Amino acid sequence: MRPIFTFAIFIATASCLAASPSFTIDATRSAGKVSPKLYGLMTEEINHSYDGGLYAELIRNRAFLDDAKSPVNWSVVKDDASAAIITLDSANPLNDKIPTSLRLTATHVSKAHPAGVANSGYWGIPVQPKTEYRASLWARAEAGFFGPLTVSIVSEDGCTVYASGKLSRLTAEWKKFELTLKTGNVTPTAQARFEVTLDQPGMVWLDLVSLFPPTWNDRPNGLRKDIMQMLVDLNPKFLRFPGGNYVEGNKIEDHFPWQKTLGPIEHRPGHTCCWGYRSSDGMGLLEFLEWCEDMKAEPVLAVFAGYSLDGTHIDPGPQLEPFVQEALEEIEYVTGDTNTAWGARRAKDGHPAPFKLNYVEFGNEDGFDKSRSYNGRFAQFHDVIKAKYPQLKLITSDPWAQLDGRKPDVEDWHDYSAADDFIKKSRDYGSDFNRHGPEIFVGEWAAHEDAAARPWDATSWKLPPTPTMKAAIGDGAFMAAMERNSDIIKMQCYAPLLVNVNPGARAWRPDLIGYDALSAYGSPSYYAIQMFSRNLGDEILPVTFSGTSVQGCATRDSKTGEIIVKLVNPELTPQSLPIEIKGVTALASKATVITLAGNPEDTNSTGHPKNVVPITTTLSGVKPSFTCTLPANSIVVIKLKAHL
Ligand code: AHR
Repeated sequence: MRPIFTFAIFIATASCLAASPSFTIDATRSAGKVSPKLYGLMTEEINHSYDGGLYAELIRNRAFLDDAKSPVNWSVVKDDASAAIITLDSANPLNDKIPTSLRLTATHVSKAHPAGVANSGYWGIPVQPKTEYRASLWARAEAGFFGPLTVSIVSEDGCTVYASGKLSRLTAEWKKFELTLKTGNVTPTAQARFEVTLDQPGMVWLDLVSLFPPTWNDRPNGLRKDIMQMLVDLNPKFLRFPGGNYVEGNKIEDHFPWQKTLGPIEHRPGHTCCWGYRSSDGMGLLEFLEWCEDMKAEPVLAVFAGYSLDGTHIDPGPQLEPFVQEALEEIEYVTGDTNTAWGARRAKDGHPAPFKLNYVEFGNEDGFDKSRSYNGRFAQFHDVIKAKYPQLKLITSDPWAQLDGRKPDVEDWHDYSAADDFIKKSRDYGSDFNRHGPEIFVGEWAAHEDAAARPWDATSWKLPPTPTMKAAIGDGAFMAAMERNSDIIKMQCYAPLLVNVNPGARAWRPDLIGYDALSAYGSPSYYAIQMFSRNLGDEILPVTFSGTSVQGCATRDSKTGEIIVKLVNPELTPQSLPIEIKGVTALASKATVITLAGNPEDTNSTGHPKNVVPITTTLSGVKPSFTCTLPANSIVVIKLKAHL
């Protein structure tokens, strides 16, 4: 939907402003420095964010560990004249970390009638034209069988072969095979599967079967390009990982096992994820760090702090020591030079240069720990880690806890609210903040449309996975409030970030970016965040509103003198708003205006990815006092250039 955006320029008189709605920006002074790290991202394995999402692996259950009883997501492919059997096998495993393989027995096969095994990936294998896919697998064969194996990407009905190659010289020992599968000039589709077939009778064992499309920065164990582009476009300054609940796990033993996520993928067994499926751990600690590197964002590392989602905790004291040690080693893996044990391990894993780390968070939402053990747990982690890494800023995941007298450097606040509640609370947001207290990190937040759409309620399952324009308005009001307070709110990030939109993939809504196997799209909230994060000054300018429901904020870029105004109109009708900029006598006559507007129920989807997107226009005849008409239900960024 196209916004209607008009400006009337006039010199406001005092009487006019007193009687009318007004928005005043005081450019004579600064209300503090805008945090340069204000806009970042939060991520965890939820909604198939990595497996079936950002992590570009296309084969589901590649290590045959997703189910102990059957090779789920794998099926036999055969025709009327061929036959094959598949079964899980724990004899002669690939290694001690991947204890199960797939045994494939082709009983009746010939060149004209092959049979084998197929994997449909995460809701389809995406086929793109003229694209090279990197296939790899480990295989061994019964004595006397040498192959070949045919590896292909074929249509769901098996009638079209999009790309194919052959592997031979199998032996009785495990051996890694790699080949490139190249598609021709095909029409993109996700109605495809990956196959490994035999055309001679024989028995083979397969493991760690993998297929990658081209990845961001060509990293071999890399990330999906389209989603990465969308993330980079948000200009994030940090990445909070790996959770969220994912860092904690449902049980203590299921917390994020960072050590087991290192090294070659055939050494990663994966683990039970708290969001209803198993994680391959292809997205391991180093991949998170390289993801940060690729986005030029700094890591905000959450370490497991001895509390899991089933309510179990580890008592502070000797029992907690191994977990504190685990956190110390994790920090050493991230930051240590190659003379340290874990820095050397990072170098061995392919990244000799240490990563810069400023922030470490202990746990996630530990306020849910009814035993209140977080006080002692935080204190124990704090004392050991501060002693070794005094420069690190330590984040409490429970802002209300007393922490046995330890003072956190940063508090992590989470806020999932209905759009109208964000709009209500945003107007005076921050008036009661302790400006001398710990820094504030709003480490998870998102507006849902209304009370009936609360993420944790069943009704939200009936709604599309990504938010509507109505929610984006709540997001806009809240972001403006956080930006006005970014002298103390140093970082903030929407959550969850990613959702696979296929049925059964989602564990939470609303989510910022949706995708299926073939394409990704941004929700209206995604574009709202993009408008805010890409247009950030460095000085907060005080603003006052009266007689209007419009909310907003203003900042200045001290280098260029540009004033950036962000406004949110939550009404279903356009609003005329006189704007006065005090202390500025002249502005460049042309300003850039970016507008996101739509009906409250408007949204984007894989089928309609650009239904609601920002539109950039140029405004002429700008002066320090002017009136703008904000479209109904809109978010507007106005970039006022200094007079040259
Ligand atoms: O963002 C979804 C979940 O909400 C996070 O994992 C958790 O921290 C919060 O409760």
